[in-house]
Amino acid sequence: MTGSLLVDNIGELVTNDGRGGDPLGVRRDAALLVEDGRVAWVGPARYAPAAARRVDAAGAAVLPGFVDSHAHLVFAGDRAAEFAARMAGEPYTGGGIRTTVGATRAASDDDLRATVGRLRAEMRRQGTTTVEIKSGYGLSVADEARSLRIAAEFTEDTTFLGAHVVPAEYADRPDDYVGLVCGPMLAAAAPYARWIDVFCERGAFDADHARAILTCGQAVGLGVRLHANQLGPGPGVRLGVELGAASVDHCTHLTDADVDALAGSETVATLLPGAEFSTRSRYPDARRLLEAGVTVALATDCNPGSSYTSSMPFCVALAVREMGMTPAEAVWAATAGGAAALRRTDVGRLTVGARADLVVLDAPTHLHLAYRPGVPLIRHVLHNGVPR
Ligand code: NIG
Ligand code: FE
Repeated sequence: MTGSLLVDNIGELVTNDGRGGDPLGVRRDAALLVEDGRVAWVGPARYAPAAARRVDAAGAAVLPGFVDSHAHLVFAGDRAAEFAARMAGEPYTGGGIRTTVGATRAASDDDLRATVGRLRAEMRRQGTTTVEIKSGYGLSVADEARSLRIAAEFTEDTTFLGAHVVPAEYADRPDDYVGLVCGPMLAAAAPYARWIDVFCERGAFDADHARAILTCGQAVGLGVRLHANQLGPGPGVRLGVELGAASVDHCTHLTDADVDALAGSETVATLLPGAEFSTRSRYPDARRLLEAGVTVALATDCNPGSSYTSSMPFCVALAVREMGMTPAEAVWAATAGGAAALRRTDVGRLTVGARADLVVLDAPTHLHLAYRPGVPLIRHVLHNGVPR
């Protein structure tokens, strides 16, 4: 009992236990026991065991902490003026990435660390207990390695995105840049990275370059993820499936062949509605993916250019309002879906043995996340069983 903690009086417990016909695995009038940072027991509140400490959920909903599987937190500066120009009619092209690269290279380690820490804390306050963090605003050997070293101070899920865009100094020799990414940059980055990612899009990296880079990453043990089909149709999604990517992210412009490829694979489609919101673009069609049997995740894509939000509840609300998802599907995608996109079984669910990462809402059910958009509904957050 020493060190145990009981979350009691839970009106609606979302377990994502995958049992029965309900993907959220909802239990009513429940309690949950935490021991050693893990879920040790889940059951009816009236049978709740004794514990050293108690959190009274007072009839509210309890959910797994959000798993934000796509975020670019290591950067300096902001691009508020670029956002304002877009809202006045300018299109988003990804060209602003180079502006952030300049600011990031000029920043000190401490400045970068402070920004990641600030955004990580912002996320936690909004219920996120697991976050993936990418590099991609350094684009030199030293700056990509330090971006990942700093990211690794905050998460196990670090992603090497040296192939975000071709930096200005390589603009007229992209093949040389791909050689740098596959060679010395990967060697310097890999010790701090779990994943490798490429922005596979017109104006960034084509399918041949993306395949070369991702294959080099796989050869040194990194898992594959991909930015694909964000700005237009393209080969990214099918390339991701071919390489066994854990996730292909954005998936805004999909052909039937892309959807079929995803449906017959283990690759998750991670949708990032904050990017469509902030670039005033059309949203991906989550309904089409779900009907085809594709596993869908939701993430923030938090970055200073195309999606400067750290809020998973905001993404859930957008997914429901704009992308044809039910509230239950969106909550699943923001928790269990994110875990699937990171190939993790220890988070995104509240079943015995899972990490005790959970949120207590200021609301009776998960429906309120979409029903009350923009309202701060996160009352308590437990991370590894510790109240934050
Ligand atoms: O996921 N698409 C590429 N990368 C980011 C955008 C980064 C930026 O504009 O700074 C994204 O949307
Ligand atoms: Fe991104």
